[in-house]
Amino acid sequence: MRRMILCLVVLAGFGLPVAAQDLRGHGGPVGALDAGQGVLVSGGFDTRAILWDLDTATARNVTRFHDGNVTAVRLLPTGGFVTAGQDGRLAIWHADGRDPQFATPAGASAVASLGVSPDGAQVAAGYWDGRVLRLDLGTQQATEFQAHSDRVTGLGYLPDGDLVTVGGDLLLVRWTRQSDLAFRQSLPELPNGLAIADSGVAVIFADGALRLYDDAGAFMAERFLADRPLVSVTARTDTIAAASVDGSVWLLASDDLTPRHTFTAAAGPVWALAMTDTQVFSSGADGLIRRWSLDGDDLERFVADVAPALHDGSRGAEVWKNCAVCHSLEPDDHSMAAPSLHGILGRPIATQSGYDYSEALQELDIIWTAETISELFTYGPETYTPGSRMPEQRIGAPEDREALVAYLQRVTDAQD
Ligand code: HEC
Repeated sequence: MRRMILCLVVLAGFGLPVAAQDLRGHGGPVGALDAGQGVLVSGGFDTRAILWDLDTATARNVTRFHDGNVTAVRLLPTGGFVTAGQDGRLAIWHADGRDPQFATPAGASAVASLGVSPDGAQVAAGYWDGRVLRLDLGTQQATEFQAHSDRVTGLGYLPDGDLVTVGGDLLLVRWTRQSDLAFRQSLPELPNGLAIADSGVAVIFADGALRLYDDAGAFMAERFLADRPLVSVTARTDTIAAASVDGSVWLLASDDLTPRHTFTAAAGPVWALAMTDTQVFSSGADGLIRRWSLDGDDLERFVADVAPALHDGSRGAEVWKNCAVCHSLEPDDHSMAAPSLHGILGRPIATQSGYDYSEALQELDIIWTAETISELFTYGPETYTPGSRMPEQRIGAPEDREALVAYLQRVTDAQD
């Protein structure tokens, strides 16, 4: 089941329950998240980025472009998104684009952090080698400068359009729009990331503290949250969320850093956090994205009952739920990330009309039968259909593979 309710500790003050729903689509750890108007974008070690529709908890777009991990993602005000990777590239996407609108060339080092300017006209990327790249989305012009002598671990735009960066050289720096140095402030510890909050610049540190600086770089407040490194941070209106390597998440008042909530989101590090006004998203090594409600809302209501008639209670229908995140079974319905699998048995690969398949899939020569579909999930898509956009996944038990194929056949027969 991808829906799960987890219990957690609620600190005095808020007193509201928080429930989690799991979004399962990536074929490996998920290290990058951003949430906005009804959508979430995620980036994985599986080289995929996924755009999620939050009302239906389904994947609207799965993209495969980067060579290596997708290390940072950001939604754009236009409804599209930007991804960046270990390959040092930035790619700009329409919400439903299967290929980038445009992308920067491969870089000398990996991208560690991304930010979008308040007017949505510019994207900034911080690299492992200390460079910052600013990309004008209108002209597609990129400019670069050496911001730090070590990795840029975090960056963000202030409301007036200036950029703030932190780096492995233990510096917090503010840059004007022309990339001139506005000020430089030394930090007491290694910064692991930053978020721009209402109250200032929230920086997380390897010593387990979250420290708040004003927009002139002056230290304002600190709160020690853990005796281990904090590894992810995000902010929204009056709340800052931060997480540690041991899976704990804190929600803090952004003005005085008073903890409002704390909960355990994962057994290991929380590599990424994102927040809307009422929900928090966390992800880590297990490949799941967990969705947490801040207002006690029942998250089950966000799951669309895609095709109630198809829930026949069989084992096959149960296995299919993992596929229904991306695939429909309605004839010609390619509105989700993946092609409809209606009538898939007996068809040559990549031939459902109206779906924009990857070139890799179009070049393969497979007829989908009970046997080949079973093989696809015995060996996994990476091995069986190399270059496919479908994230890596396997179905271990032969009886589950059989039940799935029988279910696909039954549904097609019933619909024809
Ligand atoms: C996270 C999204 C995702 C999930 C989950 C997923 N798929 Fe896919 N699948 C895709 C995408 C995207 C494609 C198209 C790949 C391409 O064009 O490279 C695809 C393609 C396929 C194809 C080839 C279709 C054709 O017309 O040739 C089959 C078969 C398939 N998937 C079966 C499944 C089954 C069965 C499951 C569940 C066990 C599943 N998929 C789960 C995203 C997904």
